[in-house]
Amino acid sequence: MTRSTKRSWVSLGRTVMLILVASMCNLSDCYDPLDPHGNITVTFDIYQYTPDGYMARVTIQNYYQYRHVDKPGWNLGWTWSKNEVIWSMFGAFAIKQGDCSSFKFRTTHSCIKDPVIADLMPETSPVNRSEDCCHGGLLSAWAINPSKSFSSFEIMVGNLEANSTGYAPLNLTLLAPGPGYTCSPVLDTDPTVSLDIGGRRQVQVYRTWKSTCTYSSFLANKTPVCCVSLSTFYSPTITSCPKCSCGCREADKSEVSCIREGYPLLNRDLVSNHDIVECTDHMCPIRVHWHLKNNYMEYWRVKLTVSNYNYNRNYSDWNILVQHPGFSQNSTTYSFNSTVLPTVGLGDEVALFWGIEYYNKELLNSDEDVMGSVTTDIILKKDLDSFTLSNGWAFPRRIYFNGENCEMALPDTFPMLPNDSSSLKTAHYHFLGLLIYLTFKTLVTCFHE
Ligand SMILES: *[C@@H]1O[C@H](CO)[C@@H](O)[C@H](O)[C@H]1NC(C)=O
Ligand SMILES: *[C@@H]1O[C@H](CO)[C@@H](O)[C@H](O)[C@H]1NC(C)=O
Ligand SMILES: *[C@@H]1O[C@H](CO)[C@@H](O)[C@H](O)[C@H]1NC(C)=O
Ligand SMILES: *[C@@H]1O[C@H](CO)[C@@H](O)[C@H](O)[C@H]1NC(C)=O
Ligand SMILES: *[C@@H]1O[C@H](CO)[C@@H](O)[C@H](O)[C@H]1NC(C)=O
Ligand SMILES: *[C@@H]1O[C@H](CO)[C@@H](O)[C@H](O)[C@H]1NC(C)=O
Ligand SMILES: *[C@@H]1O[C@H](CO)[C@@H](O)[C@H](O)[C@H]1NC(C)=O
Ligand SMILES: *[C@@H]1O[C@H](CO)[C@@H](O)[C@H](O)[C@H]1NC(C)=O
Repeated sequence: MTRSTKRSWVSLGRTVMLILVASMCNLSDCYDPLDPHGNITVTFDIYQYTPDGYMARVTIQNYYQYRHVDKPGWNLGWTWSKNEVIWSMFGAFAIKQGDCSSFKFRTTHSCIKDPVIADLMPETSPVNRSEDCCHGGLLSAWAINPSKSFSSFEIMVGNLEANSTGYAPLNLTLLAPGPGYTCSPVLDTDPTVSLDIGGRRQVQVYRTWKSTCTYSSFLANKTPVCCVSLSTFYSPTITSCPKCSCGCREADKSEVSCIREGYPLLNRDLVSNHDIVECTDHMCPIRVHWHLKNNYMEYWRVKLTVSNYNYNRNYSDWNILVQHPGFSQNSTTYSFNSTVLPTVGLGDEVALFWGIEYYNKELLNSDEDVMGSVTTDIILKKDLDSFTLSNGWAFPRRIYFNGENCEMALPDTFPMLPNDSSSLKTAHYHFLGLLIYLTFKTLVTCFHE
């Protein structure tokens, strides 16, 4: 096969893939195949009735394996079914009190028909706290730190008719912290059971309502935030991120502004939350580089580097997800924490990496002098049946940064093995195979569920 026929096959493949994906994926239905059960569950547990309402504990639990709720934290909103008011709240607060003038003789927390609740800071005084509260709205990813993946607050709801058992709130909304989450209706479920008397007695609340919120990056209307570049020990070629992965520098300066590398940030009125990225061909705030470093007899070594091209943002609690069949074997990661996630019938293993406390937990912004980055070496054991340097096998299939899919270099730009290695011809056919495989995978993503 000549180079040009290969090229045309590639572009045909790409077109077919795009058409199929566009036509078969009702975009918001595309869920994440690497975390099919991920969701944020909001639970209302009514544990006491009052003469005119109830007391409830509301818990927000993040079940996403590698998607956390970052600064400035979550906002939870809903619409009351009747004329409920919130008499008091512990462990969180309604951001608006609203018009409580009809309750002259009682202190009220919020009389808004559609309250929006925000979290309190960890240093909040004990009088305003509840159990498991006050994390400043941050929730860790489930696979990284389950003990910090949830938050609770307590509300006293009133102004209902006597003997009411409550009405489930309507139209739950979750900003975590931005848009992108869709919440199911709040429905009755089995009452939450907990243990008492050292685990010997089971107690249950009177009534439990639940809603699950799921994320869609299409709804979040996000441009990609990261891209993947590749290099190898056997070729001087560096495969850079696809051009315009996250935006084009020529395009009208709508949202993203970019500044030249090393440009002194004199005008540092960067207090705004706007991303200010370094001008690159990819224009991504984050670049992940996969360098195939060594090929030993029984092991192979990769250097994984995450670089922050955003001058205006530090990423604390960052995480990187890598899908690669090589992680089915034992591996050692030197400078990041890591775990291999259970996969759900997709074959390739998925490894999750995150920073080590007090060392590289925060991916700092670049400045005039230093590029902000975190890096580690990873040594993987070889499965001699599947390991190969050809056909792009040694490159990752997919990479996510903080749960957002990164733009990958395309297979036709992968670093090539030197010509003298045998049978390039089969390599080309394999390479077409890889393309078809990737197309197939994308489709599976859409069809599942
Ligand atoms: C939410 O996530 C939990 C934990 O993975 C799972 O048990 C539950 O079924 C999920 N809920 C929905 C509606 O998917
Ligand atoms: C803390 O509680 C007191 C009294 O209960 C209340 O006046 C105050 O507004 C609360 N502060 C916050 C931050 O919720
Ligand atoms: C509330 O329930 C109690 C006990 O069932 C009953 O005696 C009382 O009349 C009820 N009150 C109203 C307003 O329905
Ligand atoms: C809930 O949302 C639906 C759809 O957006 C809307 O039609 C309905 O009026 C809302 N209900 C309330 C009580 O806000
Ligand atoms: C990032 O963190 C560093 C060190 O803590 C700090 O000097 C810098 O101002 C932070 N940058 C931003 C954009 O917050
Ligand atoms: C992986 O490593 C652990 C300890 O280093 C060892 O006990 C285990 O047998 C290894 N597994 C494989 C499949 O090599
Ligand atoms: C990360 O690893 C370090 C030691 O390598 C460990 O002490 C720490 O608890 C880990 N952090 C998390 C969040 O698992
Ligand atoms: C490899 O092949 C390319 C084109 O097929 C050729 O230009 C190049 O000189 C070859 N390199 C070697 C080392 O043979």
